[in-house]
Amino acid sequence: MSTFTSSTLAVPGCGTVPRHVAIIMDGNGRWATSRHLPRVAGHARGVEAVRATVEACARRGIEFLTLFAFSSENWRRPADEVSLLMRLFISALEREVTQLQKNGIRLRVIGELSAFEPRLRELVEQAEARTAASSRMTLTIAANYGGRWDILQAAQAALRAQPELARHPERFDEDALGRHLAMAYAPEPDLFIRTGGEQRVSNFLLWQLAYTELYFTDTYWPDFDAAALDRAIESFAARERRFGRTSAQVTPAAAG
Ligand code: IPE
Ligand code: IPE
Ligand code: MG
Repeated sequence: MSTFTSSTLAVPGCGTVPRHVAIIMDGNGRWATSRHLPRVAGHARGVEAVRATVEACARRGIEFLTLFAFSSENWRRPADEVSLLMRLFISALEREVTQLQKNGIRLRVIGELSAFEPRLRELVEQAEARTAASSRMTLTIAANYGGRWDILQAAQAALRAQPELARHPERFDEDALGRHLAMAYAPEPDLFIRTGGEQRVSNFLLWQLAYTELYFTDTYWPDFDAAALDRAIESFAARERRFGRTSAQVTPAAAG
């Protein structure tokens, strides 16, 4: 079912705690290299940071947490690093799902999963099914995900669902596309976090980040913890989200 809402069609409600946090978990390799360890050690530690962050977000009442685990461009990495990342993903699915279930966390995986080996796809299906009824927080893992892929697949799905759109392109609107995006079940992210010092979006949720607050930290992903999350939320809480309006419209009392 789609709960698609658009920040460009209507002004969303805003709280001091973000409803949806989306994170680019970057810096695993540099974390390891700075310790004279192989890059894979950084990825392994990264899994621990995922566990801690999932727990911390759930405790803070965040409803949706979305983590970028593997981009559609990460296939360009050396084959041995790619296969290690796949193995880590498989072992995390095998080991963590029971705990997710106990903690009331629903797992969703978005991305072009057909590229993955059958064992991984099977584990993803089982994990999604086992946690489907959980409602405390939705954890989305983006794997073989790309923002451009998402927009294109949504456009294709929209045309398949409503073939008449091809004859009436003017009816092809935000809603027609948005309801087919991979994360149509979630509101747009309120807060985007990228660890590891780079200030770019790297083909993450291109459509959905239209009005998301962006937060960049130099902390490498394996060092990201509850305190680092709180700093990001604090920065978020101090921002004025205007969605195109003036400051006086947002806080009339402060208009003076
Ligand atoms: C993020 O860390 C993990 C993935 C992209 C899978 P990196 O592996 O990109 O770490 P750096 O950026 O090389 O330090
Ligand atoms: C983005 O990190 C993708 C993930 C964290 C999964 P990258 O490390 O791959 O991004 P670039 O290549 O530096 O932009
Ligand atoms: Mg990186």
